[in-house]
Amino acid sequence: MDFIRSREDRDDLYSNVDLTPRPTSESETLLSVAMEIEHANNSGYVHGGTIMRLVDTAAGIAAIKHARRRVVTATMDEMSFLAPVYIGDLLTVRARVNDAHHTSMEISVRVDVERIPSGEKLHVASAHLVYVGLDRDGRPAEVAKVIAVTEEERHRQAEARVRREQRLLRKRALAEALRGGQ
Ligand SMILES: CC(C)(COP(=O)(O)OP(=O)(O)OC[C@H]1O[C@@H](n2cnc3c(N)ncnc32)[C@H](O)[C@@H]1OP(=O)(O)O)[C@@H](O)C(=O)NCCC(=O)NCCS
Repeated sequence: MDFIRSREDRDDLYSNVDLTPRPTSESETLLSVAMEIEHANNSGYVHGGTIMRLVDTAAGIAAIKHARRRVVTATMDEMSFLAPVYIGDLLTVRARVNDAHHTSMEISVRVDVERIPSGEKLHVASAHLVYVGLDRDGRPAEVAKVIAVTEEERHRQAEARVRREQRLLRKRALAEALRGGQ
């Protein structure tokens, strides 16, 4: 069956990566999942970890679609849960690539629920994640740039660049603090 591929075949698929810059609309990803008993915690609400997993899944799909190569999650910025999610809710996760630098991409994710059957819609969480493209040996590898087409996309790209600077500053400060503590 040719739809089952070996690891080597899959690596070959990702070895000639097209680095042509592309718009974020090409990789936008929407996941809709009905919340069921299997998603619940002991209090009967949907487990926060279930939502975080779906966030990582949607963002990972958007990152792979944009980069057209293997990717890993490098970091996830803080994520607040704004409202509880109940069994029976329809959860929708929307992931968009905001910007790509050399080997990394920032993806923003927004989680909404629709309370079924009332139809009430609520924003329940948002997060920013960074993914890194990898070559076949698992080393960071170049990814395509993002073309911001609309005014909103240009805003998102500019904000992503500010967050990237903040992450790099924090990473450097933590590394220095660790060196100082030795
Ligand atoms: C993410 C990872 C590949 C980065 O490797 P590294 O050796 O630190 O690579 P580099 O320092 O060359 O950085 C590569 C890119 O990642 C970015 N990066 C690395 N760590 C980061 C972090 N904590 N936050 C944000 N970006 C980060 C760098 O800014 C760089 O981006 P750029 O090329 O666009 O400028 C590596 O740390 C890793 O494999 N981590 C484990 C990932 C994982 O297992 N995830 C969960 C399962 S998918």
